[in-house]
Amino acid sequence: MVEATPLHFFDALPAAEALSDRFGRRLSYLRISVTDRCNLRCDYCRPAPDAYRAEAHHQILSFEEIERIVRVAATMGVNKVRITGGEPLVRRDVPLLVEKLAGIPGIRDLGMTTNATLLEKYAHDLAKSGLTRINISLDSLNPLHFRRLTGGELAPVLDGIQAAQEAGLTPVKLNTVLMRGINDDEVPDLIDFAAAIGATIRFIELMPMKQGMDWQQHYIAIDEVLQREAVRARVDVSAALHTGNTAARYLPLNHGAGEVGFIMPMSARFCEGCNRLRLTADGGLRSCLPADHQLNLRDLIRRGGSDEDIRAVFMRSAMIKPEIGIYDFATDHEKRSMIHIGG
Ligand code: GTP
Ligand code: 5AD
Ligand code: SF4
Repeated sequence: MVEATPLHFFDALPAAEALSDRFGRRLSYLRISVTDRCNLRCDYCRPAPDAYRAEAHHQILSFEEIERIVRVAATMGVNKVRITGGEPLVRRDVPLLVEKLAGIPGIRDLGMTTNATLLEKYAHDLAKSGLTRINISLDSLNPLHFRRLTGGELAPVLDGIQAAQEAGLTPVKLNTVLMRGINDDEVPDLIDFAAAIGATIRFIELMPMKQGMDWQQHYIAIDEVLQREAVRARVDVSAALHTGNTAARYLPLNHGAGEVGFIMPMSARFCEGCNRLRLTADGGLRSCLPADHQLNLRDLIRRGGSDEDIRAVFMRSAMIKPEIGIYDFATDHEKRSMIHIGG
């Protein structure tokens, strides 16, 4: 279990020690990619095979290196950590990492984003090790479409979702990347499915990255989907979209309790409330998803850098965090892919 952190830990953190950027945003959320490998090949995330090579094992941060970085980050007010990939569960012994991170004073929210293909096997161990929540990619409920898009099978993913709920990794959030002509017609079914199992579904606008599909052809704005009758029959679009300290904005369901989330990085940026930094599997600290500035923590640590040196890199990363993330359509297809950054 994650130990509840006494509130005074944060209240006592001197303002000068807390990580914030030039625009006054407190950076309290670190997303950590533990591998750039994946057992699926979703076209929106992974470039064509000849355009992508996974990092060699020695390039990837060890669990001890990750733990050290999080310990230092926690002293600067980072209290939320999300383990991502690639697919985090293809890395061996991930529950051991969860246990290490759950034991760090100050970490109150320890989540994971996974494709759930291996979750049935791991859900119980992850919960026992101190994971608090899980977000699961689910882009189609049609086994044929699912296979075409991801190269994998739907059934183990559905089993994984159930296992997560049984293990108490709740509320389970489902993430669906919306793609015109691929799954945009499945929105009503996906909403019904999530409502039926008591999960929260979030629809995400396709971001242009180095990826295996044509962004122009498949991008669809959330607004367009919200105009559709079948969606309006299920979601109360008259309600104001509300936002917590997350990228998603939520609308209530028309029938029954629950809500549906929308993540709109393209049509309605959420940068003004951004509280996140990202650590890539090979130890790069990134302050903004689409910006390509990255500071190398791995080499610093392996050269014998001190905790103070690590803190200085966090502060530098905060200082270069842009006010808003800009997508450069001319070059986005050449930049790093999501599988490398961790979403
Ligand atoms: P919660 O804490 O449960 O709200 O999780 P989360 O939404 O921060 O994490 P999750 O990994 O489920 O995020 C879902 C997707 O939203 C990511 O995979 C990205 O596609 C997108 N996303 C998350 N954070 C950002 C961000 O800072 N910028 C942009 N542009 N997209 C983001
Ligand atoms: N656009 C939007 N979201 C993406 N993800 C990966 N690639 C993209 C993209 N191009 C997100 C999805 C997926 C998670 C692993 O990363 O949310 O579920
Ligand atoms: Fe944060 Fe950059 Fe995403 Fe904006 S685009 S929400 S600044 S990571």
